[in-house]
Amino acid sequence: METEKRIVILGSTGSIGENVLRIVDECPGRFRVVGLAAGRNADRVVRQAAEYGVPRLALADPAAARRAAGSLAGGATVGAGPEAVRELAALPDADLVVCAMVGMAALGPVLAAIDAGHDVALATKEVLVAAGALVTARAREKGVNLLPVDSEHSAIFQALADARRLPACVRGRPGEAGPGPHAPAEPAIERLWLTASGGPFFFHPEIDLAKVTPALALNHPRWKMGPKVTIDSATMMNKGLEILEARWLFDIPADRIGVLVHPESIVHSLVEFADGAQLAQLGMPDMRLPIQYAMTWPDRAPNAELPRLDLAKAGALHFHAPDPARFPCLALAREAAALGGVATCAMNAANEVAVAAFLAGRIPFPRIWESVARVVAETPSAPGTPSLDEILDADARARRRAAEILA
Ligand SMILES: NC(=O)c1ccc[n+]([C@@H]2O[C@H](COP(=O)([O-])OP(=O)(O)OC[C@H]3O[C@@H](n4cnc5c(N)ncnc54)[C@H](OP(=O)(O)O)[C@@H]3O)[C@@H](O)[C@H]2O)c1
Repeated sequence: METEKRIVILGSTGSIGENVLRIVDECPGRFRVVGLAAGRNADRVVRQAAEYGVPRLALADPAAARRAAGSLAGGATVGAGPEAVRELAALPDADLVVCAMVGMAALGPVLAAIDAGHDVALATKEVLVAAGALVTARAREKGVNLLPVDSEHSAIFQALADARRLPACVRGRPGEAGPGPHAPAEPAIERLWLTASGGPFFFHPEIDLAKVTPALALNHPRWKMGPKVTIDSATMMNKGLEILEARWLFDIPADRIGVLVHPESIVHSLVEFADGAQLAQLGMPDMRLPIQYAMTWPDRAPNAELPRLDLAKAGALHFHAPDPARFPCLALAREAAALGGVATCAMNAANEVAVAAFLAGRIPFPRIWESVARVVAETPSAPGTPSLDEILDADARARRRAAEILA
């Protein structure tokens, strides 16, 4: 039996986090969980710690950490606050940190994991949207692999990993010297195509987006996910964020990353090569496959629990161009990418504020993109790679400005 991979899970109580634990169950002998971090769900993280025998926990919310400390058994310890989450991400005995936290709060822990030399399986797209240049440069410097968890990026990763050359986001297979200094994406890759389910509204032009309620927007037709990403899917900002995520993971300019609406969510994304060939990864819409691939990479592990795709049963697959008039977030993300500097960071921050306000019932649905557009337009452009301080400053300013606009 090969040695177990020791993993830390950041955001273990969420939708992705719980699926990570399912993969641990479904691949016996492959993984040992050495750390769990969450925001405030003390009961769930304590239950997980007991079930998986996890010695180290962290909760970002200090009151939740105190509650967890009162009910922990077996010598496990729990840290409190964002600093404790960062420390957990840097645990010396980890082999892989799976980042499944939501939002910009994951940036500090991801940088801590990279600085500690840990490979990171990254679900939290917001980290690359806000700080892609910084995070990927730091990963290169430390010789750390960034492994995509998002299903679209995993599909591209799988298509590229199987195509002779190592994708830009990894530095080498374990035990190999690696591809050497960072090289730009091979010109042989002409375009990436991200597929999008279209969310709950793309195929319902009769729905007046101004009247959409949180309950309606949370009712995603294909994927069961946490609330923030589900609202992002409904506005299609999720695809905008994913364009930027792909831009940094695969080192390809955003204007060479296209989007196709594909309601069946069977083709998870495609790579188009200079000779016109397109490689895609297909599978049932189930996040466990991309999660498992990131966790077992470079191996493919058997897992009989994962659903099999029967193309004859799946029937016809459909693809549509996006609708930029009804869903302006895609163009907004491209504009922010073109502006460079901290524009995408500001866009991400304003979007987090606006989505929270919409979920709280304080603003109508279209105010999400309207307010994000205003914040991006007001962000001063500054070419070059922003430093961590500049990113944190831009994030804080954009949050304040979005809150003012929405007050
Ligand atoms: N769900 C999907 O299918 C899917 C697919 C692709 C990409 N993603 C991306 O994956 C990320 C997670 O999505 P999700 O759907 O799993 O979200 P979710 O269900 O809302 O879970 C979020 C997790 O983050 C934790 N958390 C929140 N704030 C934290 C903090 N400050 N420190 C530590 N942990 C914190 C939460 O803990 P508490 O619950 O204890 O507060 C929870 O465990 C997002 O970036 C999303 O875009 C998700």
